[in-house]
Amino acid sequence: MNKSIRALVITFFGFFLTVEAQKFKDLAPTPPMGWNSLNYFKCDFNEQLIREVADAMSSNGMKEAGYEYIIIDDCWQAGRDEQGTIIPDPDKFPSGMKALADYIHSKGLKFGLYSDAGTKTCKGLPGSRGYEYQDARTYAAWGVDFLKYDWCHHSTQDARASYTLMRDALYAAGRPVLFSICEWGENEPWLWAPKVGHMWRTGHDIKDCFNCDLNTSSQGVMKILDQQVDLRKYAGPDAWNDPDMLEVGNPGLTLSESRAHFSLWCMLAAPLIAGNDIIHMSDEIREILTHEAVIAIDQDPLGIQAIKWLDYGDLEIWFKPLQNDEYAVCFLNRSEAPRKIDFDFNQWGRVFDPENDWKKYTFDLTYQLLNLWEEKLIGDTRSPLRATIPGHDVLLIKMSKIP
Ligand code: GLA
Repeated sequence: MNKSIRALVITFFGFFLTVEAQKFKDLAPTPPMGWNSLNYFKCDFNEQLIREVADAMSSNGMKEAGYEYIIIDDCWQAGRDEQGTIIPDPDKFPSGMKALADYIHSKGLKFGLYSDAGTKTCKGLPGSRGYEYQDARTYAAWGVDFLKYDWCHHSTQDARASYTLMRDALYAAGRPVLFSICEWGENEPWLWAPKVGHMWRTGHDIKDCFNCDLNTSSQGVMKILDQQVDLRKYAGPDAWNDPDMLEVGNPGLTLSESRAHFSLWCMLAAPLIAGNDIIHMSDEIREILTHEAVIAIDQDPLGIQAIKWLDYGDLEIWFKPLQNDEYAVCFLNRSEAPRKIDFDFNQWGRVFDPENDWKKYTFDLTYQLLNLWEEKLIGDTRSPLRATIPGHDVLLIKMSKIP
Protein backbone atom coordinates (compact mmCIF):
# COMPACT_ATOMS: atom_id res chain seq x y z
CA MET A 1 0.00 0.00 0.00
CA ASN A 2 1.54 3.34 -0.90
CA LYS A 3 1.98 5.94 1.81
CA SER A 4 -0.88 8.23 0.91
CA ILE A 5 -3.42 5.39 0.63
CA ARG A 6 -2.24 4.08 4.01
CA ALA A 7 -2.65 7.53 5.57
CA LEU A 8 -6.14 7.75 4.12
CA VAL A 9 -7.11 4.32 5.52
CA ILE A 10 -5.74 5.21 8.98
CA THR A 11 -7.62 8.52 8.99
CA PHE A 12 -10.82 6.79 7.87
CA PHE A 13 -10.74 4.10 10.58
CA GLY A 14 -9.34 6.49 13.14
CA PHE A 15 -12.42 8.65 12.67
CA PHE A 16 -14.69 5.77 13.62
CA LEU A 17 -12.48 4.44 16.40
CA THR A 18 -11.93 7.69 18.28
CA VAL A 19 -14.52 8.04 21.01
CA GLU A 20 -14.40 11.67 21.89
CA ALA A 21 -14.70 12.02 25.65
CA GLN A 22 -17.58 14.12 26.87
CA LYS A 23 -19.99 14.18 29.75
CA PHE A 24 -22.99 11.86 29.58
CA LYS A 25 -25.71 13.95 28.00
CA ASP A 26 -29.33 14.42 29.07
CA LEU A 27 -28.93 13.01 32.58
CA ALA A 28 -30.19 16.24 34.13
CA PRO A 29 -32.72 17.97 31.85
CA THR A 30 -34.21 19.42 35.05
CA PRO A 31 -32.36 19.94 38.37
CA PRO A 32 -31.34 16.59 39.95
CA MET A 33 -33.25 15.45 43.04
CA GLY A 34 -32.14 13.09 45.77
CA TRP A 35 -30.77 12.71 49.30
CA ASN A 36 -27.22 12.94 50.65
CA SER A 37 -25.83 11.60 53.95
CA LEU A 38 -23.66 14.56 54.93
CA ASN A 39 -25.79 17.36 56.35
CA TYR A 40 -27.48 15.32 59.07
CA PHE A 41 -25.56 12.06 59.49
CA LYS A 42 -22.00 13.40 58.86
CA CYS A 43 -19.81 10.25 59.04
CA ASP A 44 -22.26 8.30 61.13
CA PHE A 45 -23.87 5.91 58.63
CA ASN A 46 -23.70 2.31 57.47
CA GLU A 47 -25.42 0.09 54.91
CA GLN A 48 -28.37 -0.57 57.21
CA LEU A 49 -29.08 3.15 57.50
CA ILE A 50 -28.73 3.70 53.75
CA ARG A 51 -31.18 0.83 53.12
CA GLU A 52 -33.62 2.45 55.54
CA VAL A 53 -33.22 5.74 53.70
CA ALA A 54 -34.04 3.93 50.43
CA ASP A 55 -37.09 2.33 52.09
CA ALA A 56 -38.23 5.72 53.37
CA MET A 57 -37.72 7.52 50.06
CA SER A 58 -39.64 4.89 48.14
CA SER A 59 -42.59 4.83 50.55
CA ASN A 60 -43.01 8.34 51.97
CA GLY A 61 -43.95 10.20 48.78
CA MET A 62 -40.44 11.43 47.96
CA LYS A 63 -39.91 9.03 45.08
CA GLU A 64 -43.27 10.03 43.56
CA ALA A 65 -42.32 13.70 44.04
CA GLY A 66 -39.20 13.17 41.89
CA TYR A 67 -36.36 12.33 44.31
CA GLU A 68 -34.22 9.56 42.84
CA TYR A 69 -30.55 9.64 43.92
CA ILE A 70 -29.34 8.30 47.28
CA ILE A 71 -25.85 9.67 47.68
CA ILE A 72 -23.25 8.55 50.22
CA ASP A 73 -20.91 11.46 50.96
CA ASP A 74 -17.44 11.36 52.54
CA CYS A 75 -16.47 8.60 55.04
CA TRP A 76 -17.40 5.43 53.13
CA GLN A 77 -13.82 4.54 52.11
CA ALA A 78 -11.36 2.40 54.08
CA GLY A 79 -8.29 2.37 51.81
CA ARG A 80 -6.94 0.74 48.66
CA ASP A 81 -5.87 -2.86 48.07
CA GLU A 82 -2.49 -3.88 46.53
CA GLN A 83 -3.93 -3.32 43.05
CA GLY A 84 -5.03 0.16 44.02
CA THR A 85 -8.74 -0.66 44.02
CA ILE A 86 -10.72 1.46 46.44
CA ILE A 87 -12.18 -0.51 49.38
CA PRO A 88 -15.34 0.52 51.22
CA ASP A 89 -15.18 0.54 55.02
CA PRO A 90 -15.95 -3.13 55.86
CA ASP A 91 -17.50 -2.23 59.23
CA LYS A 92 -19.96 0.19 57.64
CA PHE A 93 -20.56 -1.81 54.45
CA PRO A 94 -20.05 -5.51 55.26
CA SER A 95 -22.10 -6.56 52.21
CA GLY A 96 -20.15 -4.28 49.85
CA MET A 97 -21.24 -1.46 47.57
CA LYS A 98 -22.59 -3.62 44.74
CA ALA A 99 -25.14 -5.23 47.07
CA LEU A 100 -26.18 -1.82 48.38
CA ALA A 101 -26.50 -0.41 44.86
CA ASP A 102 -28.60 -3.42 43.88
CA TYR A 103 -30.89 -2.81 46.84
CA ILE A 104 -31.31 0.87 45.96
CA HIS A 105 -31.96 -0.01 42.31
CA SER A 106 -34.54 -2.60 43.36
CA LYS A 107 -36.52 0.28 44.90
CA GLY A 108 -36.50 2.12 41.56
CA LEU A 109 -33.93 4.61 42.89
CA LYS A 110 -30.36 5.49 41.89
CA PHE A 111 -27.08 5.25 43.77
CA GLY A 112 -24.54 8.05 44.29
CA LEU A 113 -21.05 8.12 45.79
CA TYR A 114 -18.51 10.76 46.76
CA SER A 115 -14.83 11.09 45.98
CA ASP A 116 -12.24 13.83 45.72
CA ALA A 117 -10.05 15.12 42.89
CA GLY A 118 -7.07 15.43 45.26
CA THR A 119 -5.01 12.82 47.05
CA LYS A 120 -7.38 12.71 50.04
CA THR A 121 -11.00 13.55 50.74
CA CYS A 122 -11.93 16.37 53.12
CA LYS A 123 -12.10 13.80 55.93
CA GLY A 124 -8.61 12.51 55.07
CA LEU A 125 -9.63 9.29 53.31
CA PRO A 126 -8.22 8.22 49.92
CA GLY A 127 -9.01 10.61 47.06
CA SER A 128 -9.03 9.66 43.38
CA ARG A 129 -5.87 11.53 42.30
CA GLY A 130 -3.88 9.11 40.12
CA TYR A 131 -6.67 6.50 40.25
CA GLU A 132 -9.31 8.25 38.17
CA TYR A 133 -9.80 5.59 35.47
CA GLN A 134 -9.53 2.75 37.97
CA ASP A 135 -12.07 4.34 40.34
CA ALA A 136 -14.45 5.09 37.47
CA ARG A 137 -14.34 1.42 36.43
CA THR A 138 -14.94 0.33 40.03
CA TYR A 139 -17.94 2.67 40.33
CA ALA A 140 -19.35 1.34 37.05
CA ALA A 141 -18.94 -2.26 38.29
CA TRP A 142 -20.76 -1.38 41.53
CA GLY A 143 -23.63 0.33 39.70
CA VAL A 144 -22.94 3.94 40.67
CA ASP A 145 -25.21 6.50 38.92
CA PHE A 146 -23.99 9.77 40.48
CA LEU A 147 -20.56 11.00 41.54
CA LYS A 148 -19.98 14.01 43.78
CA TYR A 149 -16.35 15.00 43.30
CA ASP A 150 -14.75 17.22 45.94
CA TRP A 151 -11.68 19.47 45.98
CA CYS A 152 -9.75 18.91 49.24
CA HIS A 153 -6.01 18.12 49.16
CA HIS A 154 -5.67 19.22 45.54
CA SER A 155 -2.27 20.86 46.06
CA THR A 156 -1.25 22.55 42.77
CA GLN A 157 -3.73 20.67 40.57
CA ASP A 158 -5.63 22.61 37.94
CA ALA A 159 -9.36 22.41 38.66
CA ARG A 160 -10.65 22.29 35.12
CA ALA A 161 -8.09 19.65 34.08
CA SER A 162 -8.76 17.55 37.20
CA TYR A 163 -12.52 17.52 36.73
CA THR A 164 -12.18 16.93 32.98
CA LEU A 165 -9.94 13.94 33.70
CA MET A 166 -12.60 12.35 35.89
CA ARG A 167 -15.31 13.19 33.36
CA ASP A 168 -13.30 11.33 30.69
CA ALA A 169 -12.69 8.41 33.05
CA LEU A 170 -16.42 8.10 33.78
CA TYR A 171 -17.22 8.31 30.10
CA ALA A 172 -14.63 5.63 29.26
CA ALA A 173 -16.03 3.33 31.96
CA GLY A 174 -19.27 3.41 30.00
CA ARG A 175 -21.94 3.58 32.73
CA PRO A 176 -23.92 6.85 32.63
CA VAL A 177 -23.00 8.83 35.75
CA LEU A 178 -24.35 12.23 36.72
CA PHE A 179 -21.22 14.21 37.57
CA SER A 180 -21.50 16.71 40.42
CA ILE A 181 -18.57 19.13 40.64
CA CYS A 182 -17.76 20.37 44.14
CA GLU A 183 -14.89 22.86 44.07
CA TRP A 184 -16.82 25.50 46.03
CA GLY A 185 -16.89 28.06 43.22
CA GLU A 186 -13.17 28.74 43.69
CA ASN A 187 -12.26 28.49 40.00
CA GLU A 188 -15.38 30.06 38.49
CA PRO A 189 -16.73 26.64 37.49
CA TRP A 190 -19.77 28.23 35.82
CA LEU A 191 -17.38 29.26 33.01
CA TRP A 192 -16.14 25.73 32.20
CA ALA A 193 -18.18 23.18 34.15
CA PRO A 194 -21.22 23.04 31.81
CA LYS A 195 -19.13 20.91 29.44
CA VAL A 196 -17.65 18.82 32.24
CA GLY A 197 -20.42 18.05 34.71
CA HIS A 198 -24.15 18.33 35.25
CA MET A 199 -24.01 20.59 38.31
CA TRP A 200 -21.36 22.56 40.13
CA ARG A 201 -21.18 24.00 43.60
CA THR A 202 -21.17 27.79 43.52
CA GLY A 203 -19.79 28.31 47.03
CA HIS A 204 -18.84 26.84 50.37
CA ASP A 205 -20.80 24.47 52.59
CA ILE A 206 -24.32 25.25 53.75
CA LYS A 207 -25.22 25.19 57.48
CA ASP A 208 -28.61 24.77 59.08
CA CYS A 209 -28.95 28.38 60.10
CA PHE A 210 -30.95 31.08 58.36
CA ASN A 211 -28.55 33.96 58.15
CA CYS A 212 -25.31 33.02 59.89
CA ASP A 213 -21.82 33.39 58.54
CA LEU A 214 -19.85 30.98 60.69
CA ASN A 215 -16.60 31.11 58.77
CA THR A 216 -15.57 31.22 55.14
CA SER A 217 -16.30 27.54 54.66
CA SER A 218 -19.80 27.28 56.06
CA GLN A 219 -22.67 29.68 55.70
CA GLY A 220 -26.37 30.05 56.35
CA VAL A 221 -29.18 29.92 53.80
CA MET A 222 -29.44 33.70 53.17
CA LYS A 223 -25.68 34.14 52.71
CA ILE A 224 -25.68 31.41 50.10
CA LEU A 225 -28.77 32.87 48.40
CA ASP A 226 -27.00 36.23 48.00
CA GLN A 227 -24.13 34.57 46.13
CA GLN A 228 -26.41 33.22 43.39
CA VAL A 229 -27.75 36.50 42.00
CA ASP A 230 -25.13 37.06 39.28
CA LEU A 231 -24.72 33.40 38.33
CA ARG A 232 -28.16 32.80 36.90
CA LYS A 233 -27.19 33.08 33.26
CA TYR A 234 -24.94 30.02 33.51
CA ALA A 235 -27.67 27.60 34.61
CA GLY A 236 -29.91 25.61 32.30
CA PRO A 237 -30.86 22.09 31.28
CA ASP A 238 -28.09 19.55 31.97
CA ALA A 239 -25.89 22.20 33.66
CA TRP A 240 -27.01 23.61 37.01
CA ASN A 241 -25.64 26.02 39.57
CA ASP A 242 -25.56 24.13 42.87
CA PRO A 243 -25.99 26.36 45.95
CA ASP A 244 -25.47 23.17 48.04
CA MET A 245 -27.73 20.55 49.55
CA LEU A 246 -30.89 21.24 51.48
CA GLU A 247 -30.95 21.82 55.24
CA VAL A 248 -34.76 21.55 55.26
CA GLY A 249 -35.81 19.71 58.41
CA ASN A 250 -32.46 19.97 60.18
CA PRO A 251 -32.47 21.22 63.78
CA GLY A 252 -31.06 24.73 63.16
CA LEU A 253 -33.99 25.86 61.01
CA THR A 254 -37.56 26.62 62.09
CA LEU A 255 -40.46 25.37 59.98
CA SER A 256 -40.80 28.83 58.36
CA GLU A 257 -37.09 28.90 57.61
CA SER A 258 -37.21 25.43 56.07
CA ARG A 259 -40.15 26.52 53.90
CA ALA A 260 -38.35 29.71 52.81
CA HIS A 261 -35.12 27.77 52.08
CA PHE A 262 -36.98 25.18 49.98
CA SER A 263 -38.97 27.84 48.09
CA LEU A 264 -35.85 29.78 47.21
CA TRP A 265 -33.92 26.72 46.07
CA CYS A 266 -36.88 25.95 43.79
CA MET A 267 -36.81 29.54 42.48
CA LEU A 268 -33.08 29.12 41.79
CA ALA A 269 -33.67 25.93 39.77
CA ALA A 270 -31.22 24.35 42.22
CA PRO A 271 -30.64 20.62 42.58
CA LEU A 272 -32.94 19.43 45.38
CA ILE A 273 -30.77 17.11 47.46
CA ALA A 274 -32.41 16.55 50.84
CA GLY A 275 -29.95 16.48 53.73
CA ASN A 276 -32.12 15.59 56.71
CA ASP A 277 -33.15 12.37 58.46
CA ILE A 278 -35.90 11.35 56.05
CA ILE A 279 -36.54 8.16 58.05
CA HIS A 280 -37.79 10.07 61.10
CA MET A 281 -38.87 13.47 59.75
CA SER A 282 -42.10 15.16 60.85
CA ASP A 283 -45.16 15.33 58.61
CA GLU A 284 -44.68 19.09 58.22
CA ILE A 285 -41.16 18.61 56.86
CA ARG A 286 -42.25 15.77 54.60
CA GLU A 287 -44.98 18.04 53.23
CA ILE A 288 -42.40 20.71 52.42
CA LEU A 289 -40.04 18.29 50.70
CA THR A 290 -42.78 16.63 48.65
CA HIS A 291 -44.98 19.61 47.73
CA GLU A 292 -45.85 18.89 44.11
CA ALA A 293 -46.72 22.42 42.98
CA VAL A 294 -43.61 23.94 44.58
CA ILE A 295 -41.32 21.26 43.16
CA ALA A 296 -42.85 21.97 39.73
CA ILE A 297 -41.34 25.48 39.96
CA ASP A 298 -37.87 23.94 40.41
CA GLN A 299 -38.45 21.34 37.72
CA ASP A 300 -39.92 23.68 35.13
CA PRO A 301 -38.56 22.50 31.75
CA LEU A 302 -37.31 25.96 30.73
CA GLY A 303 -34.72 25.68 33.53
CA ILE A 304 -34.48 29.44 34.08
CA GLN A 305 -32.92 30.49 37.40
CA ALA A 306 -34.88 33.26 39.15
CA ILE A 307 -34.13 36.94 38.76
CA LYS A 308 -33.85 39.01 41.95
CA TRP A 309 -36.51 41.46 40.84
CA LEU A 310 -36.98 43.99 43.65
CA ASP A 311 -34.99 44.54 46.82
CA TYR A 312 -36.48 46.49 49.74
CA GLY A 313 -33.87 45.43 52.29
CA ASP A 314 -35.57 42.84 54.44
CA LEU A 315 -38.18 42.24 51.76
CA GLU A 316 -37.04 40.78 48.46
CA ILE A 317 -39.08 39.76 45.44
CA TRP A 318 -37.75 37.02 43.18
CA PHE A 319 -39.16 36.22 39.75
CA LYS A 320 -38.89 33.03 37.68
CA PRO A 321 -40.28 32.63 34.15
CA LEU A 322 -41.99 29.26 33.61
CA GLN A 323 -43.26 27.40 30.58
CA ASN A 324 -46.67 28.33 29.09
CA ASP A 325 -46.18 32.04 29.91
CA GLU A 326 -46.54 31.44 33.62
CA TYR A 327 -44.34 33.01 36.31
CA ALA A 328 -43.34 32.19 39.86
CA VAL A 329 -42.94 35.10 42.26
CA CYS A 330 -41.42 34.69 45.71
CA PHE A 331 -41.81 37.41 48.36
CA LEU A 332 -39.08 36.76 50.94
CA ASN A 333 -39.22 38.28 54.40
CA ARG A 334 -35.64 38.17 55.71
CA SER A 335 -36.47 39.83 59.02
CA GLU A 336 -37.70 38.10 62.18
CA ALA A 337 -40.79 40.31 62.41
CA PRO A 338 -43.88 39.72 60.25
CA ARG A 339 -44.03 41.94 57.19
CA LYS A 340 -47.12 43.42 55.53
CA ILE A 341 -47.12 43.71 51.77
CA ASP A 342 -49.36 45.76 49.51
CA PHE A 343 -48.11 45.05 46.05
CA ASP A 344 -49.52 46.29 42.77
CA PHE A 345 -48.18 44.14 39.94
CA ASN A 346 -49.28 46.76 37.42
CA GLN A 347 -47.34 49.51 39.10
CA TRP A 348 -44.22 47.62 38.10
CA GLY A 349 -45.70 46.13 34.97
CA ARG A 350 -42.57 44.40 33.75
CA VAL A 351 -39.43 42.48 34.63
CA PHE A 352 -36.27 42.61 32.52
CA ASP A 353 -34.04 39.61 32.06
CA PRO A 354 -30.55 41.06 31.65
CA GLU A 355 -28.99 37.71 30.82
CA ASN A 356 -31.47 37.01 28.09
CA ASP A 357 -31.04 40.02 25.78
CA TRP A 358 -32.99 42.12 28.25
CA LYS A 359 -36.08 40.12 27.39
CA LYS A 360 -39.07 41.85 28.90
CA TYR A 361 -41.84 40.05 30.78
CA THR A 362 -44.85 42.34 30.87
CA PHE A 363 -47.87 42.01 33.09
CA ASP A 364 -51.33 43.26 32.50
CA LEU A 365 -54.59 42.76 34.32
CA THR A 366 -55.03 39.20 33.17
CA TYR A 367 -53.11 37.05 35.64
CA GLN A 368 -54.52 35.12 38.54
CA LEU A 369 -52.38 34.59 41.63
CA LEU A 370 -52.10 31.17 43.20
CA ASN A 371 -50.56 30.82 46.66
CA LEU A 372 -48.52 27.70 45.98
CA TRP A 373 -47.96 26.47 49.55
CA GLU A 374 -51.63 26.81 50.42
CA GLU A 375 -52.81 25.83 46.94
CA LYS A 376 -55.33 28.63 47.05
CA LEU A 377 -56.20 31.43 44.62
CA ILE A 378 -55.55 34.73 46.36
CA GLY A 379 -56.70 37.21 43.74
CA ASP A 380 -55.49 38.49 40.41
CA THR A 381 -53.50 41.36 38.97
CA ARG A 382 -56.57 43.60 38.75
CA SER A 383 -56.15 44.57 42.39
CA PRO A 384 -53.12 44.96 44.69
CA LEU A 385 -51.92 41.90 46.56
CA ARG A 386 -52.23 42.43 50.33
CA ALA A 387 -50.78 39.88 52.74
CA THR A 388 -48.67 39.45 55.87
CA ILE A 389 -45.58 37.29 55.61
CA PRO A 390 -44.34 35.78 58.89
CA GLY A 391 -40.71 36.37 59.90
CA HIS A 392 -38.11 34.34 57.95
CA ASP A 393 -40.80 33.06 55.62
CA VAL A 394 -42.08 33.52 52.09
CA LEU A 395 -45.20 34.07 50.07
CA LEU A 396 -44.75 31.95 46.96
CA ILE A 397 -47.06 32.65 44.07
CA LYS A 398 -47.68 31.34 40.60
CA MET A 399 -49.06 33.81 38.07
CA SER A 400 -51.09 32.34 35.22
CA LYS A 401 -53.52 33.80 32.72
CA ILE A 402 -57.07 34.07 34.00
CA PRO A 403 -58.88 31.25 32.14
C1 GLA B 1 -16.53 19.38 51.62
C2 GLA B 1 -17.76 19.49 50.70
C3 GLA B 1 -18.98 19.03 51.46
C4 GLA B 1 -18.77 17.60 51.95
C5 GLA B 1 -17.52 17.49 52.80
C6 GLA B 1 -17.21 16.06 53.16
O1 GLA B 1 -16.59 20.28 52.66
O2 GLA B 1 -17.93 20.80 50.26
O3 GLA B 1 -20.14 19.12 50.68
O4 GLA B 1 -18.74 16.72 50.85
O5 GLA B 1 -16.40 18.06 52.12
O6 GLA B 1 -16.08 15.91 53.92
